[in-house]
Amino acid sequence: MCGIIGYIGKQNAAPILIEGLKRLEYRGYDSAGLAIVSQVGGKNGSSIVAVKSVGRVANLENKVSEQLEGVVGIAHTRWATHGKPCDRNSHPHSDCNGKIWLAHNGIIENYQELKDILIRKKHVFKSETDSEVIAHLIEEFGKKYDFKKSVLESLKLLRGTYGLAIIHRDEPNKMIVARLGSPLVIGVGSNENVIASDVSAIIRHTDQVVYLEDGEVAVITPDNYEVFSVKNRAVSKEVTKLDWSIEKAQKHGFDHFMLKEIFEQPETIQNATRGRLVVPEGRAKLGGLRHVADQLRGIEKIVIVSCGTSYYAGLVGEYMLEEYAGIPVEVEYASEFRYRKPILNDKVAVLAISQSGETADTLAAIREAKEKGALTLGIVNTVGSTIARETDAGTYNHAGPEIGVASTKAFTSQLSVFVLLTLMLGRQRGMSFVMGQRIATEMAKIPKQIEKMLKTSKDIKKIAKKYLKYQNFLYMGRKYNYPIALEGSLKIKEIAYVHAEGYPSGEMKHGPIALIDKNFPSIFVTPKDSVYEKNLSGMQEIKARGGKIIAIATEGDKAIQKIADDVIYIPKTLEMLTPLLSVIPLQLLAYYVGVGRGYDVDKPRNLAKSVTVE
Ligand code: M6R
Repeated sequence: MCGIIGYIGKQNAAPILIEGLKRLEYRGYDSAGLAIVSQVGGKNGSSIVAVKSVGRVANLENKVSEQLEGVVGIAHTRWATHGKPCDRNSHPHSDCNGKIWLAHNGIIENYQELKDILIRKKHVFKSETDSEVIAHLIEEFGKKYDFKKSVLESLKLLRGTYGLAIIHRDEPNKMIVARLGSPLVIGVGSNENVIASDVSAIIRHTDQVVYLEDGEVAVITPDNYEVFSVKNRAVSKEVTKLDWSIEKAQKHGFDHFMLKEIFEQPETIQNATRGRLVVPEGRAKLGGLRHVADQLRGIEKIVIVSCGTSYYAGLVGEYMLEEYAGIPVEVEYASEFRYRKPILNDKVAVLAISQSGETADTLAAIREAKEKGALTLGIVNTVGSTIARETDAGTYNHAGPEIGVASTKAFTSQLSVFVLLTLMLGRQRGMSFVMGQRIATEMAKIPKQIEKMLKTSKDIKKIAKKYLKYQNFLYMGRKYNYPIALEGSLKIKEIAYVHAEGYPSGEMKHGPIALIDKNFPSIFVTPKDSVYEKNLSGMQEIKARGGKIIAIATEGDKAIQKIADDVIYIPKTLEMLTPLLSVIPLQLLAYYVGVGRGYDVDKPRNLAKSVTVE
């Protein structure tokens, strides 16, 4: 939620900031803005110029004139929380005199209280945002202290979360950044430094990064950075070398990132399993869990915490782990888990699933679990993200940067890691070599099977065209494919703004069937598995009521053609692996319906890629 970037060096900052904002735009796109220190030490001292615009970064780019020169600047792309999207509420925000400017990601919970105090001290506010209060606080402390001390004193008063980048007209060769609950990374260059909410905006400039931790503040100049605690104690930091390349974050000829990411799945699944899936031995190696392997043997329950698509991956994981590793599993929405009073102890492993590794609720759930003595684990995509760093152990899913707001390749790579985890824990707990080898052999075929399915994407495009006009869909599946029904319905909601309900097909008769008529099509995920016959009966019941049906079925299933209006086939595989295949046509269907309805599928309205606020 919200992306921030800052540059300090020798180059003209504005184009660098705009380019960085484009990479961060997936974090929010309600408005964008930048502030540049211009005329450093000129006749009348320095000045800071800000430009803001509602909507996409492209609008801001059109507004920024070529004359806007300066080698220090900050910028922001906004996902609105406090105050509607308009120029006035766009970041960066300033103090009363335009001396101090800041870009903020997060929420200041006690802003109203602080604002009231500052108004009494005659501060004049220009926006309705919570963020502006920070600029005025720094201004207030500036009456007594220098820039750094004013920032530190202000931070002590804030309740909530922040990733902050701040510049000061009177100390023009300096930028101060701070982090509490919202990510912030320093890219360390040569005679220049770039800060951003995530590495996608940094990789173009440097592959050397420093991840700020909660409660840390950094003072940055063109050739140095120093990190402190809020109490002003120096903190020594490690520099990490990034292994993401700029190419991985481009569209490569696809119309949208979402389509590119759908088509990348054969490769990303291979990346998730490479060197980990040991087919001849029927087992899996997960290096990131090696140091807790003994502890895992004694674990009596796994609680999976996650949100959105990652939550649905967790539901598939639950079926896999319970059936093949014999471990009781519960899957919880992280946003609920953190507010319950979960009963945890050292025999419970709490496993966070997160593409971004920054989702606020998932992070809070992990912190809660840690406090209660549980072993915390992560399946995370973004290397070096907060959840990856804060869990006791974990594994990356290696899907590479996912830019489309709708999660696709991250989901199938999460499922792949669940297959590996099931093999690893299953073999620890009595799964036979033969069973292990069967799962591993079938898993190794999945990338090629997806490759083959993707070749028929044109057929799905045709089906999507037929269904463009419908406003409601019922998605149904059972057992391993119930979470896929949920995921399919989430995809079409997000991308095509179509109302869709995901349901376990066995529940249909308990209510949702009342919705069915000729204007309410159903999508049945019904591969030839142990619940196939049950699904077939459900489909007959829909058909008898005049409902249209799209079926996702296994190759060779001719019988289904007699019931469904349209059939999309997936290759044969083990029942537990069917979700890796059955989700692909649902991703494509959502994509083509969204595009067919004329929407920007990479940046669906009201959403942001990384939900770093509650
Ligand atoms: O980064 P995370 O996996 O923690 O994100 C969780 C959800 O916000 C995310 O999956 C969201 O539901 C996506 N927009 C789904 O496409």
